[in-house]
Amino acid sequence: MQLIDGKAVADRIKQEIAQEVAEICNAGGKRPHLAAVLVGHDGGSETYVAHKVKACEQCGFKSTLVRYESDVTEEELLHKVDELNNDPDIDGFIVQLPLPKHISEQKVIEAIDYRKDVDGFHPVNVGRMSIGLPCFVSATPAGIMELLARYNIETKGKHCVVLGRSNIVGKPVATLMMQKAYPGNATVTVCHSATTNIKEICRTADIIIAALGSPEFVTADMVKEGAVIIDVGTTRVPDASKKSGFKLTGDVKFSEVAPLCSYITPVPGGVGPMTIVSLMRNTLLAGKKAIYK
Ligand code: GUN
Repeated sequence: MQLIDGKAVADRIKQEIAQEVAEICNAGGKRPHLAAVLVGHDGGSETYVAHKVKACEQCGFKSTLVRYESDVTEEELLHKVDELNNDPDIDGFIVQLPLPKHISEQKVIEAIDYRKDVDGFHPVNVGRMSIGLPCFVSATPAGIMELLARYNIETKGKHCVVLGRSNIVGKPVATLMMQKAYPGNATVTVCHSATTNIKEICRTADIIIAALGSPEFVTADMVKEGAVIIDVGTTRVPDASKKSGFKLTGDVKFSEVAPLCSYITPVPGGVGPMTIVSLMRNTLLAGKKAIYK
């Protein structure tokens, strides 16, 4: 079994990005600038956004954090989106999800100029990704593909089972894994809450991408010997022994599944750091106007 070290790969990519940013700036070019909008004080969102801001520093980007209390109106938020769309200094921006219930996430996503949508959530980017055109690919799926590539994991003709059908991970990663490219070219099955025979389907998988948000859902009896396991889960489970009071728990029961696998991502330190670095790469692409003019 080989551990897929997402943290080490992410650190290397951040260095590569920082190097390129230094070259751009030395040549008189513009320093990439990412803005993040954070609404409310959800613990997970606070942590993710703090990591994104820190990663911007490490990559040599400028970053701006825009904060609102959870009672901000949809109109106010849409106004800010419009302002960021029209600010020539901002190359890309994200609105951290989830948003409070009184705000339509879809409305906010669609209000973002797709040319600055470094999260890759806008329907233009989702649509372009699904037909294989240049676009901003959302960060978690892009990070998973990068890990498969950096570890030279064979995907062509393999049976890839994706657990979960979210717009952020399950659907886009299934789309990418079926595309005629490397990584990709796999036979893909997507399982979700209405799938009746998940265990049997998983047992036929060469690659399992678990993105359900259900701690330790994937157990040893669901995994074929030699399978590749990508664990996207990051649920905060209470743990009194930790200073924070919780531990991040994946969708895979690591202790019993790891010995069976050829490759597996740990939680934390697997897909998580790659998600952030993919956002950084999208921001660099936005800064260079490499996808959209
Ligand atoms: N919430 C969970 N993951 C993400 C992400 O990748 N981007 C944003 N904006 N919100 C999220």
